[in-house]
Amino acid sequence: MKVLVSDNLSATGVEILKKESGLEVDVKTGLPKDELIKIIPAYDGLIVRSATKVVAEIIEAADNLKVIGRAGIGVDNIDLDAAGKKGIIVMNAPEGNIITTAEHTMALLLAMSRNIPQARSSLKNKKWAPKEFMGVELYEKTLGIIGLGRIGSIVSERARAFQMKIIVYDPYISQERAEKLGVELVELKDLLGRSDFLTLHTPGLAGKPLLGKKEFEQMKPGIRIVNCARGSLIDDAALIEAVESKIVAGASLDVYHKEPLDLDSPLLQVEEIICTPHLGASTGEAQEKVATAICDQIIDYLKHGNVRNAVNVPSIDAETLAKIKPYLVLGEDLGNFISQLTDGPVTRVEIQYNGEVSNINVEPVTIAILKGLFNRSLEGINMVNAPFVAKERGIEVQESKSNEVHEYTSTVQVSVTSKNISRQVTGSIFGKGDSRIVQFDDYHMEAVLSKNMIVLQNMDVPGVIGNLGNILGKNNLNIAGFHLGRQAKESKAIAIINIDPPPTNETLRDLRDTSNILSVHSVTL
Ligand code: NAD
Ligand code: MLT
Repeated sequence: MKVLVSDNLSATGVEILKKESGLEVDVKTGLPKDELIKIIPAYDGLIVRSATKVVAEIIEAADNLKVIGRAGIGVDNIDLDAAGKKGIIVMNAPEGNIITTAEHTMALLLAMSRNIPQARSSLKNKKWAPKEFMGVELYEKTLGIIGLGRIGSIVSERARAFQMKIIVYDPYISQERAEKLGVELVELKDLLGRSDFLTLHTPGLAGKPLLGKKEFEQMKPGIRIVNCARGSLIDDAALIEAVESKIVAGASLDVYHKEPLDLDSPLLQVEEIICTPHLGASTGEAQEKVATAICDQIIDYLKHGNVRNAVNVPSIDAETLAKIKPYLVLGEDLGNFISQLTDGPVTRVEIQYNGEVSNINVEPVTIAILKGLFNRSLEGINMVNAPFVAKERGIEVQESKSNEVHEYTSTVQVSVTSKNISRQVTGSIFGKGDSRIVQFDDYHMEAVLSKNMIVLQNMDVPGVIGNLGNILGKNNLNIAGFHLGRQAKESKAIAIINIDPPPTNETLRDLRDTSNILSVHSVTL
């Protein structure tokens, strides 16, 4: 297997990859897009930081690529949709650089409050002018934090040590978490109006600025702003205007709309704005941590199939995987089974988890069901692209859970609606991991799921099973299992028959021509 490292990665990470047996590693940094498109088909794994823009054209060409690893947090340089559709897992290393970035935020807060970069430039220009650089204290000032995730939380702890009052806007954070961190949760407008300092720690929010003209107008005059998150969160023109109109006393930016920053950018002309060239994660310690983490994750996935810190597929740790593995197999088999008994394009899939299974994270099981549903009709379907394919085809997927236990401790029920009909199959796990169908449409049974099966509906009258046995015998088909579900009301029955080789077209035709047999399907898992 081959892995390409296309950005500067700490040597420790590259060494980890090189030491792994069965893995070939190439480090080729600064490649132009066309060059990357040319060489990418040879690789199973790609590791980037932020310089490589993994755009759709590169992903399109990546015929063997299974995983893209980002040595860092933000994955905005990777086309996640294109990767998802192609079935490529994208993972990041979200923990390794958070302390470093929080420290850079504190460094910028302090540098800005004491005009350190400006004072240094003045001295370099041979000017001793202490009066020009009167600063402000952080002590007892209000710090507004937008986004109280990993980095925002560390910043809040550090700022508390400076005895700042911390207020937070983050609509996804609970009151409990805020109280634990000793911060006050407020609305955005309130935060803007009360903050002496403001720092941003959200994701890029799909390029939509959080701070534009309207927000600057709501700010407390004299506010100082730090952005170590993503450049797209601030409307630059509105920021410059707010500095000129003295609403904003200072700003410290580490990230920009377009990177590298245009060196003629008006941001660099404003004395009150200090800029660093995306240095948030740039410490030896952080780079070593993210490189080590992403290389370990890539090896774990390519060699053992373990998914950690994936951003486009649910991550499953080893303990959870052991618990849900039988359900992943059952789910995929149920999807595969029902897809072969449904005609026309599927429009809706309903999945109902009942009993104990409803207490585990069933998201991967739902994906396995979708994968099974498309297995026979689509080349290259996998756990990453299955939800994309369902969405692309306009298939409505509904999942529900109930912890009520009926006849079986756990069941997974899949109902599929296609153009004209709805079909339903319910499965359960027996013993240590045997998948069984316990209900098919209205018929109860306990059918073993095997590689080759015949699913047959017949009138529940004497002689049918005898005829059936004769036809299979005549066609040299060994019956490995026979499971019958009966429905007294309509005098009909369904049989799921496990057979060794798959039936030939002739066998199927003979069965269909037999009296009292209503439908015959061959199902292969
Ligand atoms: P995180 O996912 O742990 O936290 C993000 C927080 O933002 C979450 O608590 C979320 O609830 C909140 N949030 C989401 N949308 C919001 C909205 N509209 N308004 C308010 N809050 C919202 O992320 P993190 O690891 O703390 O990283 C934060 C940012 O820092 C990311 O953009 C990341 O890419 C960036 N980053 C930059 C550098 C750098 O070198 N400058 C280094 C590391 C990370
Ligand atoms: C990140 O998202 O991790 C940062 O932007 C740091 C980096 O560029 O690696």
